[in-house]
Amino acid sequence: MAAKYIVVANWKMNPMTLRDAKKLFQMTKKMADAASNMSIIVAPPAIYLQPLTALYKGQKVQFAGQSAHEAASGPFTGEISIAQVKNAKARFLLVGHAERREHGETNEDTARKVSAALKEGIIPILCVGEARREQSGSHFTFVREQLRAALQSVEQNAVTKIIVAYEPVWAIGSEEAMSPRAMHEMAIFIRKTIVEMHGAKGYGVKILYGGAVSEKNAGAMLKEGDVVGLLVGRASINPKELAALLTAIQEQ
Ligand code: PGA
Repeated sequence: MAAKYIVVANWKMNPMTLRDAKKLFQMTKKMADAASNMSIIVAPPAIYLQPLTALYKGQKVQFAGQSAHEAASGPFTGEISIAQVKNAKARFLLVGHAERREHGETNEDTARKVSAALKEGIIPILCVGEARREQSGSHFTFVREQLRAALQSVEQNAVTKIIVAYEPVWAIGSEEAMSPRAMHEMAIFIRKTIVEMHGAKGYGVKILYGGAVSEKNAGAMLKEGDVVGLLVGRASINPKELAALLTAIQEQ
């Protein structure tokens, strides 16, 4: 992805109908085409992936699965496989989003998914982040564990392909994002941890911030947070907020 910034639009379990999904996608696409310095990765509910990718032939918008199972096929009722995500023309996969972890996804699961995605030629967007912050700095240990577990079996050469989305759980769905300064500190820590595991190539890993991203905080986060992009929930499903957000990024 040659664009300066990456914006991941995580639609979560929205919108309610395919018709509305198509409408939201058309708007997103129009805004993405008008923006010169970013590419947008839309992560719709799995059921909309195929119909939406079928609508698009350009380069500015890419697609991601919100979650997928690491097995190629099998008796996993309710799941979709990474190969199916790929077949639907997505190039990315969210792995270990906080809302998946809350429903039981473990560090070991993220490790299997990251490896399976890379094998399939899908780029994993590995989500990490602590539930709370304490004076002791335990959030650093927590994030290091998440990174170590998920990336342990990744080959050195593949490490630069991975995108890490740091999303402090306490900021997701809240009113306020983390400060760019705290993000900068965390970005240095994430890189250091990956370099310790996989050598100097780890410096090249792309880091995103997520959690209450809006037009108000996006500019400062990209400027001072040491990140190459943003993972956006609520503001990505509201056309007005999305337009304001993309304008703020465009001005960077
Ligand atoms: P939010 O969600 O932007 O609504 O806080 C972010 C996320 O969960 O990815």
